[in-house]
Amino acid sequence: MKKRGIVALLAAGAIVASLSACAGGGTTGGSSSSGADEGGGQLVGIAMPTQQSERWIQDGNALKEQLEDQGFTTDLQYAEDDIPTQISQIENMITKGAVALIVAAKDGSALTTVLEEAASQDIQVIAYDRLLVNTDAVSYYATFDNFLVGQQQAWSVLNGLGLTELDGTPIDGAPAGPFNIELFAGSSDDNNATFFFNGAMDVLQPLIDAGTLVVKSGQTDFNVVATQDWLGANAQARMEDLLTKSYSDGSKVNAVLSPYDGLSRGIASALKDNGYAVGAGWPIISGQDAEVLSVQYIETGEQYATIFKDTRDLAAQAVKMTVAVLNGEEPEVNNTTDYDNGVKVVPSYLLQPVTVVKDNITTALIDTGYWTQAEIDGAKAE
Ligand code: BGC
Repeated sequence: MKKRGIVALLAAGAIVASLSACAGGGTTGGSSSSGADEGGGQLVGIAMPTQQSERWIQDGNALKEQLEDQGFTTDLQYAEDDIPTQISQIENMITKGAVALIVAAKDGSALTTVLEEAASQDIQVIAYDRLLVNTDAVSYYATFDNFLVGQQQAWSVLNGLGLTELDGTPIDGAPAGPFNIELFAGSSDDNNATFFFNGAMDVLQPLIDAGTLVVKSGQTDFNVVATQDWLGANAQARMEDLLTKSYSDGSKVNAVLSPYDGLSRGIASALKDNGYAVGAGWPIISGQDAEVLSVQYIETGEQYATIFKDTRDLAAQAVKMTVAVLNGEEPEVNNTTDYDNGVKVVPSYLLQPVTVVKDNITTALIDTGYWTQAEIDGAKAE
């Protein structure tokens, strides 16, 4: 009874919203139609993995703001990378009567039981950025093209070495190398980490095979190069180790494939501790997330590139999906093949990531309102 009424209310709200969207000529940045009341005060739970990495704070805020704009109430929780905490936060959301859950999991495979509980109460579950695996209880997935993110990271490294354009197009007369490169991957409990690494290796492996790139440590296996919990400190420790074990003969690292800005900063610290200095001879380092301090580092040359994934657009996509499923409609998806979670292929909407180097910081990040120049200039290492 209650649900039917809500669905009717939501449907009415959606009609009003779409009419006003037509009249108003739409909005920019995928933000919600202001003043609409699709939500009718219903609760949506937003379960985010951690506040350690800046992007999740941006995601959480964007989701909360956009849902509340549409008349929902929200419960935004951060699990601080602790599985039991995330489970109990989601249990709480269920108890409080959430009609939908938007979940970015700490560990995509650890939420099976609590998600079953949600499904048994007809609560809609949207996987946010990271896939929820080994469960039937996830309806849709909003994310970026994660394989492409990995390719872009690799292309950015090759671009820094003078081998290709940022889209992977080979550069005529490129140097022959060989270049020493070391590889890092993300946390193995995050489905994205494998996608990023596979995308990057799709680009790098042929060059490793050809001898243009040399991984002196010999460490090229995902499980060996993965960085538990995506922690910068873990990447820093592994980089220290690599420098000691594989570069004590005076050879230099020319490039580091890093899948996330927080790891890139840890890697840079290890390099500095081992006598490298920003400037000539400083390695090309990739990244992801356009974290504000790393954007500053791109300006100063300490990091070469990052992959920008606009959290406002991802939030907008997830909110659209949530409203659609609550209305009993099928959300728009653009990928129904790639995200097999072990139980089913989860229908997904993949957004396009953008490579950012020194040259396009202004157009990609400042002109779009993601960061101001003052924020970039003022960013400080913790
Ligand atoms: C996200 C990345 C992020 C990483 C660490 C991944 O799941 O897709 O954007 O850098 O987690 O937080």
